[in-house]
Amino acid sequence: MRITDTSDLWWKTAVVYCLDVETFLDDNGDGVGDFAGLARRIDYLADLGITCLWLMPFSPSPDRDDGYDVTDFYGVDPRLGTHGDFVEVMRTARDRGIRVIVDLVVNHTSDRHPWFLEARKSVDNPYRDYYVWSKTKPKNDAPTVFPGEESSMWELDEKTGEYFLHSFYRHQPDVNIANPKVRNEIAKAIGFWLQMGVSGFRVDAVPFLIEAPKDTEIGDPHEFLRDIRRFLQRRSSEAVLLGEVNLPYRQQFDYFGGAAGSELTMQFDFIGMQSLYLSLARRDPTALIRALRQRPEIAPESQWANFVRNHDELTLDKLTEKQRNEVFEAFAPDESQRIYGRGITRRVPPMLEGDPRRIRMVYSLLFSLPGTPVLFYGEEIGMGENADIPGRSSVRTPMQWDATPTGGFSSARSSRLVAQPPGDGYAPEHVNVVAQRDDPDSLLQHVQRLIARYRASAEIGWGEFEVLEHDQKAVLAHSMRSDIGRFVALHNFAERPMNVQLRLDDEAEDANLVDLLGPERMPLDGGHVSVELGAYGYRWFRVSRPGDGRLG
Ligand code: GLC
Repeated sequence: MRITDTSDLWWKTAVVYCLDVETFLDDNGDGVGDFAGLARRIDYLADLGITCLWLMPFSPSPDRDDGYDVTDFYGVDPRLGTHGDFVEVMRTARDRGIRVIVDLVVNHTSDRHPWFLEARKSVDNPYRDYYVWSKTKPKNDAPTVFPGEESSMWELDEKTGEYFLHSFYRHQPDVNIANPKVRNEIAKAIGFWLQMGVSGFRVDAVPFLIEAPKDTEIGDPHEFLRDIRRFLQRRSSEAVLLGEVNLPYRQQFDYFGGAAGSELTMQFDFIGMQSLYLSLARRDPTALIRALRQRPEIAPESQWANFVRNHDELTLDKLTEKQRNEVFEAFAPDESQRIYGRGITRRVPPMLEGDPRRIRMVYSLLFSLPGTPVLFYGEEIGMGENADIPGRSSVRTPMQWDATPTGGFSSARSSRLVAQPPGDGYAPEHVNVVAQRDDPDSLLQHVQRLIARYRASAEIGWGEFEVLEHDQKAVLAHSMRSDIGRFVALHNFAERPMNVQLRLDDEAEDANLVDLLGPERMPLDGGHVSVELGAYGYRWFRVSRPGDGRLG
């Protein structure tokens, strides 16, 4: 064993898969997915090659925000199963080498949480200070995160005549993290789920969570995050915090805990994701390259989480208005495909007009850009959204397992399903696991191959990122270099096939480029090599040096 055994830092080379138990597989035929169903599909996920499962909220909830409105931090929503069913999933996943992380939604509770029911009884209720109150409506009021759905962050509580803060929906009052009791409650919930075997948390809405409530003095808000991280690590050395922080890189650096890496272990790269879409729209990788180069240098234990789609709107809020409109025009030409003036409600394949070359190129990028890839369920088979479902829910339809009308998700009558699958060209009849499992040319098998090659190329998670020189503006050529070797990838953002004259001047005369997705092996002739790229083509290589002991 080496003291610096990098496999301890499992998240640096993980493949994360996000799903909502409610929409994955229904075992008891009531139209709602459940833990028993998920347990039956762990082998599918293991075959796909994922190493970490992120479970979206599954706690008891009135479900007015897809479970992000929690009434009991320790419970399991009875529609989804019991703690026993949860443990079965944990055990099965562990057995197949899959870690599980869960959503930690503690910026707010549901307004039906027992704390809030107590808090609103009277101004001197012991739970009053669990939330943030104001006697008058604060002047700096603004619409919430959901413009068009909420016009104010402050809601009048009729009974006590005071206003409570809600950064999101009015039925989601923000908790008061200035209250030490609330901080202890959060730690206790973290401790509980760690004891249940989870390997960490996807932390919801982090900037809102640590913000100092109005008129309170909490000192450095990042101290709270450092506290949580210390507590987490005391309880479980392998546990991670994967934070949702949609802020400019400079601020994200602070949420990592700077160069010390003492706060969030991982963060989604929202800037990189938005720049990727701008690059796709322009058929020019420049915007993406700029973003990747601007990423601050983070601690070796910290990591970026890359994604091309998640369960929310595809937000474009960090682009300029002009850039956002370019992406809107390219990928959401119809006003009904947009939301909150900043995002898109579609999944990747419909945005790319179903062009398989482009869709594959996007997933090739997801698995080869520096960082850890995160998949949203159904992406591996190219699921589309159900455009008849308004808002963010359009992409939260049931997983499509087979060609039957309910996609094999449930034996319940179609009208009882928790959500309706799309009825258009993306209906289960056209897009499903069973058909793609047997088809070597399917997207599913493509993603499976990418995952296998990614997992054999630890440089992608660990290496030093470099943009390589060449002569084609529409191509991103990059390498990831670490002490185990060098990974090279090329991506053609244009529809035109081309030949790229790539320069790898610093490689030895006798090195080769070994094709990781095909059979080719090319000598690096004095550091120069000519690479063929198809329309929206992509290539992955490893620089192989004689005697480096790798299999290729
Ligand atoms: C996060 C979640 C989103 C939810 C919100 C409020 O942004 O991703 O789905 O609505 O937090 O909890």
